Amino acid sequence: MNENLNGNLLVAQSGGPTPVINASLAGVIMEALNHDEIEEVYGALNGVTGILNDNLVDLAQETSGTIELLKTTPGAALGSCRVKLKTEEQLAGILAEFQKRNIRYFHYIGGNDSQDSSHQIYEYCKSKGYEIRVIGVPKTIDNDLVNTDHCPGYGSTIKYLATSIRELACDCASLGNHDLVTIVEVMGRNAGWIAAGTVLARRKGMSKDAPHIILLPERAFNPEAFIAEILECLKSQKHCLVVAAEGLVDASGNLIGASNAIVDAFGHSKLGGVCDYLESLVSAAIQGVKTRVVRLGHVQRTASHFASKSDIDDAFNAGRYAVKMAVAGETGKMASFSRVDDRKINLVLVDLENVANGVRKLPDNYIGENGMSVNVNAFVKYVRPLTQGVVNMSNTLDECGIPQMAILKSVPVK
Ligand code: F6P
Repeated sequence: MNENLNGNLLVAQSGGPTPVINASLAGVIMEALNHDEIEEVYGALNGVTGILNDNLVDLAQETSGTIELLKTTPGAALGSCRVKLKTEEQLAGILAEFQKRNIRYFHYIGGNDSQDSSHQIYEYCKSKGYEIRVIGVPKTIDNDLVNTDHCPGYGSTIKYLATSIRELACDCASLGNHDLVTIVEVMGRNAGWIAAGTVLARRKGMSKDAPHIILLPERAFNPEAFIAEILECLKSQKHCLVVAAEGLVDASGNLIGASNAIVDAFGHSKLGGVCDYLESLVSAAIQGVKTRVVRLGHVQRTASHFASKSDIDDAFNAGRYAVKMAVAGETGKMASFSRVDDRKINLVLVDLENVANGVRKLPDNYIGENGMSVNVNAFVKYVRPLTQGVVNMSNTLDECGIPQMAILKSVPVK
């Protein structure tokens, strides 16, 4: 392989955004500007859609201030997409664009489906003899990519959620009198990492703190056992706070909160509705109880104002590392995190084919015996390095004290 591969770099974003997805973009851009082999730094708008439509922007035109602000800007600054590559025609279209624009470095910032796209693109280019360095950059608040210790985006999401639940519990405790059940639905389509992460709301050693019940997709929902847990909790606590993952399934494996009529390009049903089901169940089963539903919705993946500093650093460093490794001659890989111990987590490369489409569930040793709780000690040990620190955003505030967001100039590539 030719180590000095000269040509242009293309970066794109795909799937559900995270609070730190743009920190990875910033990492890719900043690192790319350090290498003479990389002539131009382009971004594709809306993931592979932008590649297929020749909708590229020149990222070297962005100011250093904008690139820095990307680190605390949620959403996908280049625009995202949920497009599954299914046909040879699509892959041929992507290769044609790479040839036209002399793209020799490609970095797709995305989750499991997006790493599958990267893998297909890599294989197709290889089969056609087109030399390109493809290194994926992981992201997903769901933390469910395989072959990596964790995914950038996850730490910030659970930091925000655990903080909000700790705050919410103060409100519930002040108004409840053994008669208040609050149900909080959180994201997590296939795995319970996000729901489990809300356990950080509990103070150290305070097992009676909220959340009192955590419902995970890894365990089939049992309505009777759930109601019994709530009654037990209400006896001893002033209120009961339940966290439910949106991907909760019943005993037959059916998604409780799915709208089967609405399915995206990846074949995923639209979720959101578990909390309504649980609320009706609780209201019908427990006489005189007051129920509340709290939907944190999409803000749980946009709360960059309270992002974890370690998560921002991970996202940024993963972007930089992907470019460095590509320049060094690597291809067909994804930047991944490998834990040595709690203080040392290294960036390494893993084969794209061993990441694409896989789903990493919450392991059994993190799940409590009753299936509705988390083994706090083991889980917190894992998650603690991911939620450390905050970023001082005071220099990003506007005249009303509201954080500003990075908006790319998006100068089209002629
Ligand atoms: O990217 C993953 C995710 O955050 C899931 O947890 C969630 O189910 C999904 O995105 C929702 O995204 P959207 O509403 O954009 O389809």
